[in-house]
Amino acid sequence: MTTRVLGKTLIDRERIRQRVRELGRDLSNSLADALRADGHDPQDDVDRVVMLPVMTGAVVFVADLIREMPLKLSMSVVSVSSYPGQATRSKGAALRGSLPDNLAGRHVVIVDDILDSGGTLELLRGAIMEQGAASVRACVLLNKLDVPKKPGILAEHIGFDIPDEFVVGYGLDYDGFYRNLPDIRILEER
Ligand code: IMP
Ligand code: MG
Repeated sequence: MTTRVLGKTLIDRERIRQRVRELGRDLSNSLADALRADGHDPQDDVDRVVMLPVMTGAVVFVADLIREMPLKLSMSVVSVSSYPGQATRSKGAALRGSLPDNLAGRHVVIVDDILDSGGTLELLRGAIMEQGAASVRACVLLNKLDVPKKPGILAEHIGFDIPDEFVVGYGLDYDGFYRNLPDIRILEER
């Protein structure tokens, strides 16, 4: 039987903090450009930007990210399961519950902890575009560089490219635990 134990820190809290600040700035600039292209002044009080964090892994990330975004936005959550229980390989993404139904005409930002196979983003992008969203962006803190992605799936905003290791902390879990670790750490097999 393999047991899994906390291993070394891959990305510490200070690097995360700095990178999240940059991501918030880049995302805000990109959204401001989109609003201008729609004929709005980004300073105007328009309700056009929706943040859509994927539960539960994105909770810590989105909480920090939105505080680095000085523009009017709202937030809805969506729940997707792909790693049931003690699995460390994606078993295929499935929507749990429903998507918010007010995305038409809005610029939607999917926020997720990590891009692995891309199943989650593929599923959500399709469903969001079907509702007639004005645009969809994906912002992920981590991207597993060596894992093959679903065709055509990418994230516009990526915090860090990482190797194909199972990681926990800063919202990422193993079997529901470790989300509260402030640093991102490798989960080692023993
Ligand atoms: P994808 O749909 O295969 O891209 O997987 C994305 C989801 O799998 C993420 O939202 C995470 O919840 C989960 N996931 C993928 N890799 C890891 C990992 O290394 N640690 C914890 N969760 C992971
Ligand atoms: Mg997830």
